[in-house]
Amino acid sequence: MMNNFEFKNPTKIIFGKDTIEQVKNEIPSDAKVLLLYGGGSIKKNGIYEQVKTALANINVIEFGGIPANPEYATLIEALKVIKEEHITYLLAVGGGSVIDGTKFLSAAAVFKGDSPWDILANKVRTEKGMPFGTVLTLPATGSEMNSGAVITRKETKEKLAMGGPGLFPEFSILDPQVITSIPQRQLVNGLTDAFMHVLEQYMTYPIGALLQDRFAESILQTIIEVAPKVLKDPTDYNAAANFMWSCTMALNGLIQKGVPTDWAVHAMGHELTALFGIDHARTLAVIAPSHYKYNFETKKEKLAQYGERVWNITKGTIDDKAYGAIEKTITFFHGLGINTKLSDYTKDYEGTAEEIAKRFTHRGWLGLGEHQTLSPYMVEKIVKMAY
Ligand code: NZQ
Ligand code: ZN
Repeated sequence: MMNNFEFKNPTKIIFGKDTIEQVKNEIPSDAKVLLLYGGGSIKKNGIYEQVKTALANINVIEFGGIPANPEYATLIEALKVIKEEHITYLLAVGGGSVIDGTKFLSAAAVFKGDSPWDILANKVRTEKGMPFGTVLTLPATGSEMNSGAVITRKETKEKLAMGGPGLFPEFSILDPQVITSIPQRQLVNGLTDAFMHVLEQYMTYPIGALLQDRFAESILQTIIEVAPKVLKDPTDYNAAANFMWSCTMALNGLIQKGVPTDWAVHAMGHELTALFGIDHARTLAVIAPSHYKYNFETKKEKLAQYGERVWNITKGTIDDKAYGAIEKTITFFHGLGINTKLSDYTKDYEGTAEEIAKRFTHRGWLGLGEHQTLSPYMVEKIVKMAY
């Protein structure tokens, strides 16, 4: 039976060609804005210019240098600026890292506790943060239309999630033309991350949620269809537009409503980023095949359905189709140039599985996955299979 659910997503999406200038209509004219950005790509590709021109009549100061996998120490510097300058509105111009960093700041700006790290360590749910909007420069995470964020702390090699209903962007501007300047490595990361977001909310067990299953399958099919076009020619506007909208739809809350979700691949993947600095999407491609093989018995019906509907595997038993589907997924990642073994990324992988299992035990993450039965022992086995 389909689960009961509530669904509210307040983010206004402004989608399409030449839409960045509309940022001026979305921010209150009396706001004092902190414009947040990353390592500087926006200054080379013209996005910064477009935003600054649009905001010519608004009081804006800037904070750049938020790194990929947004770093806590950097964000604390931005928090000082917010307090000292009496900022009232945040504007993220970037990919998932800048947007997530901005969500952390939105929460930290109103946080009453001792240390802002507690927002992550104690899983504080932010009911109302400082208002913020985004101009998305990299389709991948869906952060532009959800209320979650993931923050890294280099000092302790941690990467933890946070969120709450008060952390949806008020608006997000999605101009697909931004992808023309994205390096191939980040394009394939975006395709892979969005693909895995769908699988995390789909690869569980059937409960008769026909529409959600087909929403999920249609996003997967669209990503598979546009991937080669986007990589061959990032100026192909239609391919870019479908890519961008697929990434947003993959993680704006819609497809997970009424169905069980897994998210164990992300939990394990985040540790690989925290420990080795591997790009987020690539950690998912490393973990997913082992995760699906290890949990084959409980996931095989959905694996087979995915095999049939997404990869056109029509022959064989449920088991054949399910295995075929895992193989197709690996081949898809390899075709994008994404390696699927931990040893492809680091020589220091020995002991990683034990370390991750230990961390999960320590945090009390004793039962992950759709059945909440994936124990640290099983996590250790899965990560080892991914070496
Ligand atoms: O920093 P700059 O100079 O802007 O360069 C970035 C960065 O180096 C570059 N880039 C972005 N837009 C560009 C561009 N380069 C040229 N042209 C453009 N238009 O791309 C690099 C990667 O950017 P980043 O924001 O790190 O990538 P992504 O969007 O993949 O975000 C990854 C982060 O999001 C988290 C991940 O864990 C990771 O920290 N996630 C957030 C989620 C969420 N909030 O819902 C869910 C995801 O599962 C994920 O965990
Ligand atoms: Zn992800």
